[in-house]
Amino acid sequence: MGENSNFILGIETSCDETSVSIVRNGREVISNIIYSQIAIHQPYGGVVPEIASRNHIKKISAITDQAFLEAGLKYHDVDAVAVTYGPGLIGSLLVGLSFAKSFAYGIGKPLMGVNHIDAHICANYIGNEEVKPPFVTLVASGGHSHLILVEDYNRYKVLGQTRDDAAGEAFDKIARTLGLGYPGGPAIDKIALTGNPEAINFPRSYLEENSYDFSFSGLKSAVLNYLNSMHMKNLEYKVEDVAASFQMAVVEVLASKTVRAAVEYGTDLVCLSGGVACNSLLRKITGELCTKNGIALSYPSLELCTDNGAMVACAGYYKFINKEFSSFDITAKPNLKI
Ligand code: KG4
Ligand code: ZN
Repeated sequence: MGENSNFILGIETSCDETSVSIVRNGREVISNIIYSQIAIHQPYGGVVPEIASRNHIKKISAITDQAFLEAGLKYHDVDAVAVTYGPGLIGSLLVGLSFAKSFAYGIGKPLMGVNHIDAHICANYIGNEEVKPPFVTLVASGGHSHLILVEDYNRYKVLGQTRDDAAGEAFDKIARTLGLGYPGGPAIDKIALTGNPEAINFPRSYLEENSYDFSFSGLKSAVLNYLNSMHMKNLEYKVEDVAASFQMAVVEVLASKTVRAAVEYGTDLVCLSGGVACNSLLRKITGELCTKNGIALSYPSLELCTDNGAMVACAGYYKFINKEFSSFDITAKPNLKI
């Protein structure tokens, strides 16, 4: 293809999305096919790992062909294959990784194993030329909550992380208790719009002064205790008020620690990454704190915040240009760290 164009194929199967994308020069999405298994897992109230891997196997070939079809490209037109190899569900990761290895081998192109958290961060680069390191990013999803200083492409300093549940996990658990279904984040976000965020004063867990770590288990217990005591006293409560108050307690901590880190490390940009970055209140409150401190805020589109192949291709691109290729005996790492 064009001399200055690099096309990277990105493959993502770490949880319950089967997604394949083709990205040009790291930032331009040519195609991004996302097959979500949400409807399949909904009856179980969460992702069932075995069912997830079986559905990845069923879909991966067809989704890949669709990505090429929409891009108007042939297999050999891509310059390299990027794939998530961790963290995530072992069976799900293995499907994408095995497929990516055979695909790259088949077309004789290099393979790049990508860290899923790295991919979530790189989603901020897509379609957005202004986003360049250094910046501080919050990566909050169903599986992880990290506060990271992005010193350069591929150079990360972890400032803090959760000591118990991930932020998205807390949303999912509280939503299940409130009978709002799976996934909980979008459901709480929506119902909270009609509730009063000051109705119940749930605890904000800031931990030690100066700490950039997070903890959501105390808040989760506080919500459960509140609901139990209301039930025992036969008192009425409004689900939308509980949702709004819980959401505010999570968001205030996430937003304030993120912006405090940007101020301390002197970056003029904050990015939000991961599924929880879809949250409308998180976007709003972080935006207000950034404005107060003269810091710019950026976040990916809703589709690129949750799991997708484009972010994997983007992360792969920055490895590709440094020739950081993976060997074909790379294995899936469910607990891979950033
Ligand atoms: O990044 P992601 O698609 O998968 C993981 O890597 O875990 O994130 C999924 C998580 C789920 O926990 C979901 O409830 C949460 O992101 N989420 C949200 C919203 N949309 C998705 N949490 C809060 N508000 C939202 N609008
Ligand atoms: Zn994710």
